[in-house]
Amino acid sequence: GAVAQAGWLELLGARGVLREIDALGVQVRLDTVEPGGHFWPRRITALWDILLRHESKAEIWITHTGHANAGAHDRAQIRAFLETMDAPVQRFYWYSAQDRDESEATGLFDLRGAPRLLARMLAEGGPVRLRELLALSQRGRSHNGKGVALITGGAGFIGTNLAARLLGEGRNVRILDNLCRPGTETNLRWLANQFGERIEFRLADVRDRLALRDAVADATEVFHLAAQVAVTSSLVDPLHDFDINGRGTLNLLEELRRLDKPPPLLFTSTNKVYGGLDDLPLVVNDTRYELADPDLRRRGIDESRPIAFCSPYGCSKGASDQYVLDFARTFHLPAAVLRMSCIYGPHQFGTEDQGWVAHFARQALARQPIVIYGDGRQVRDILFVEDLVDALLLARDHIDGLRGHAFNMGGGPRNTVSLRELLAELGRMHNRPPEVRYENWRASDQRYYVSDVARFQAATGWAPRTSVTEGLERMHEWLLAQRPSPAVPERGRVAL
Ligand SMILES: NC(=O)c1ccc[n+]([C@@H]2O[C@H](COP(=O)([O-])OP(=O)(O)OC[C@H]3O[C@@H](n4cnc5c(N)ncnc54)[C@H](O)[C@@H]3O)[C@@H](O)[C@H]2O)c1
Repeated sequence: GAVAQAGWLELLGARGVLREIDALGVQVRLDTVEPGGHFWPRRITALWDILLRHESKAEIWITHTGHANAGAHDRAQIRAFLETMDAPVQRFYWYSAQDRDESEATGLFDLRGAPRLLARMLAEGGPVRLRELLALSQRGRSHNGKGVALITGGAGFIGTNLAARLLGEGRNVRILDNLCRPGTETNLRWLANQFGERIEFRLADVRDRLALRDAVADATEVFHLAAQVAVTSSLVDPLHDFDINGRGTLNLLEELRRLDKPPPLLFTSTNKVYGGLDDLPLVVNDTRYELADPDLRRRGIDESRPIAFCSPYGCSKGASDQYVLDFARTFHLPAAVLRMSCIYGPHQFGTEDQGWVAHFARQALARQPIVIYGDGRQVRDILFVEDLVDALLLARDHIDGLRGHAFNMGGGPRNTVSLRELLAELGRMHNRPPEVRYENWRASDQRYYVSDVARFQAATGWAPRTSVTEGLERMHEWLLAQRPSPAVPERGRVAL
């Protein structure tokens, strides 16, 4: 490849060399140039001019380009890729398919082989999908002075349900999400179709402080949901887990602390902050574990239980939970924490790693086997997502009384289910028992967890309204509506 310097090219042209070459190579890493786009047209058009003037038939190739993305810059990487696709050249070489070392995060896949958003979107829908995504992330930036609720992780399961409720009430909603979880783009498209311009989407990462600064500036309330959500993934890569959950939350807190009048902040913590609860004597029957202490069984676990972080996920969420409470104390942020048990419902793209109720329901519907880790007698109090949305909004409304406190949140003792019991319920719904395989227990899995929600109830008047049976039916309806109609090949699909 030749060096794309206009002066050199003119000289090569004047000496007749350009008529003898087949291709001219250009190489620039796009993260090293001024952001703002239109880099290639400006650069390449000038080269075509020179080639034409010297009657050269050479092609122009971009022999090396790319955009570094150590995690927080998916949008910039996607833009750079699309701009390169549109460059007026015969071919381009993108650097690289996979990262080779930590300092060169330019790959479509990271060092662990996980696809970056660019790779996932390309594989799922080609450049069409990438363009759609960028178009979505440019919508709805004016709120007519009415204020906007910020939801980090708002394209996820809980975020989508919360956004839909707020939008349904006529509010403006800003979602900040890096779409790292498969299924989130489906949620986002659904929200955009339902609610039009009042939904604003920012394809950004909570590790990017400036993106957060901009997002909180005019927010009237903040729901911080974005997180690395799986215990299993946290065991594989604890640093990655901490970076998103720990540093991401602290980033947000710091940006809120800068504001003259910080808006209410609600943080979605987890029951995992209480550890394995191994000291609680249990009895076991055919389908479930139960607490031996009848009084505790009737009430559930309350907030006086000492915190005992277990698993990297437990540690990173627990640290964030404590930071939020401390920022409320030390810097007077109007912030509160909900320590949540298992939430389930529509828009949940549950997997084996997280979102087990939705995962079981999806597998049962698709007649696929379900793997149970442990003996399946583990008990949880499950909470239908609409009830959680009620709780989040009540927490916002009562923030002056709730600030600086953490509240256990779940279906409570009246909405408990063991894995075995859920399988039986799904079997009844489908008139056929799901196929099940048993594997070893997973690290730090609680045998029993049921929330005592009395403290939150007393403070806000909230109570769960949806029974397990009704909630499962509503999730089932959503799953049915999700089933793909007979496949239509998508245009622009590419193989990776
Ligand atoms: N679902 C549950 O049962 C449950 C239980 C306890 C706590 N929680 C907490 O509730 C919150 C929401 O959970 P969910 O079930 O909706 O999960 P989810 O995975 O559906 O949603 C999380 C969202 O965060 C986004 N995200 C992840 N990393 C990000 C990053 N670095 N920057 C920006 N966005 C990022 C994801 O793309 C996703 O849209 C999480 O904080 C989770 O820890 C959930």
